[in-house]
Amino acid sequence: MDLIKIKDIFSSPSYNSKIVVAGWVRAFRGNRFIELNDGSTIKNIQCVISDSDKENEIYKKISVGSSLKIKGNLIESIGKGQSFEVEILNLEILGESDPEKYPIQPKKHSFEFLREQAHLRIRTSTFSAVMRIRSKLAYAIHKFFNKKGFNYIHTPIITSSDAEGAGEMFQVTTLDNTKIDKKKLNYTEDFFGKKTSLTVSGQLEAETYALGLGSVYTFGPTFRAENSNTSRHASEFWMIEPEMAFYELNDNMDLAESFLKYILEFLISSCKEDLKFLDERLVKEQSQKPKNERDQMTLLEKIKFTIDNEFVRISYSDAFEILKNSKFNKKKKFSFLIDEWGCDFQSEHERFLVEKHFKSPVIIYDYPSEIKAFYMRLNDDEKTVRAMDVLFPGIGEIIGGSQREERLDILNRRIDEMGIDKKELWWYIDLRKYGTVPHSGFGLGFERLIMFCTGMQNIRDVIPYPRTPKNASF
Ligand code: 4AD
Ligand code: MG
Repeated sequence: MDLIKIKDIFSSPSYNSKIVVAGWVRAFRGNRFIELNDGSTIKNIQCVISDSDKENEIYKKISVGSSLKIKGNLIESIGKGQSFEVEILNLEILGESDPEKYPIQPKKHSFEFLREQAHLRIRTSTFSAVMRIRSKLAYAIHKFFNKKGFNYIHTPIITSSDAEGAGEMFQVTTLDNTKIDKKKLNYTEDFFGKKTSLTVSGQLEAETYALGLGSVYTFGPTFRAENSNTSRHASEFWMIEPEMAFYELNDNMDLAESFLKYILEFLISSCKEDLKFLDERLVKEQSQKPKNERDQMTLLEKIKFTIDNEFVRISYSDAFEILKNSKFNKKKKFSFLIDEWGCDFQSEHERFLVEKHFKSPVIIYDYPSEIKAFYMRLNDDEKTVRAMDVLFPGIGEIIGGSQREERLDILNRRIDEMGIDKKELWWYIDLRKYGTVPHSGFGLGFERLIMFCTGMQNIRDVIPYPRTPKNASF
């Protein structure tokens, strides 16, 4: 008899049929009632040992965490809390678990504790819900771009160019650190014959493909050696980067907005159970906070609100004025005060705009050129570039993008002004020599999207094995 997924039993239970299920024990009550979960759904199935059989030795070996294969009859349940249950005919213990030592007991564990048990935390309801949503979101992203006729491309992970020009790269080398005389360091002797690093973004290569395939996107891991130990930064994270020929900034903003709305709609229609669980979890968590610190909206309300409302679009200069004249700034409630045009907005400012001022997702565009990357298209004012950041409640920046500088002379000038080495970018500059076109793109931080969709507060809890400064366990 074939194994059946618990999810399928819940979606169409065929009563009085024989079934086989396999999974891990989440709870074992009264020596008779087993709550089994196989990861296919947030729900456990109740499997019942018959009263006459409960003294059987095999059942004494069952404990929370052990893995079982159960053959039984699916019958209507008379007990509270479930409409059906499995009457056990045959039970096989696939793997026992030590009840004294198994870390994931059926009680509330802190996320900090669970991070230390990252290899087992997927067996909790919260993490399984988050990771199923992660998987569905990835699918929704591919579906969206596929429908729009984009080509999915795989950009290199090892690279010799710094796409963001920020110098926050992890070096890749086979040179033996202990044997090198630093003064004689010579990368021609290294594996690739030059200095190489893990990529911070696939954008530059994506641009080359957009200028041949029209519309492309990447979806891959990116690496940043920035030493920011915040709840929204990871050293290894996944990024989705669409790049479109013939798109100007407004087209780019339209795409970003419809893309995010599409994903959120998909989420609501295909992750109902997991969302409901996370929504209720957050409601409980919020109820323990003082009233003035509670979120105005529940998780589901936030998602629906984002789908139903247009994102506010505002230039950096206008956003700067709002921030500068805000009561928060005047009363010195920001840690970084806003006083001079040209400063970069911090997450506290982004969240002020989104959560307090506009109470809506916001797209800020036309940033000062000084604080943005070399590849962004310079405006006629020569002071701002055609950049755009999409800001979300609770998250801050979720997308960063721009129209690209397609004019050869200006690109060259910008690279020089920023002191970037042209040598490694010759191929990127070439694009502006041979059939250049206006083009645009953006990058969506996948983990930040998942944080928004699940209400999880820390990026370490939305990726299976987080990498952050001083942490690469597992
Ligand atoms: O704004 P960023 O740095 O933009 C780029 O990398 C461009 N090359 C994208 C493009 O235009 N193709 O990063 C894009 C997004 C951010 O908005 C944020 O959501 C996420 O990537 N991100 C991070 N997520 C987690 N941890 C980090 N350290 C992140 N840095 C950026
Ligand atoms: Mg950015």
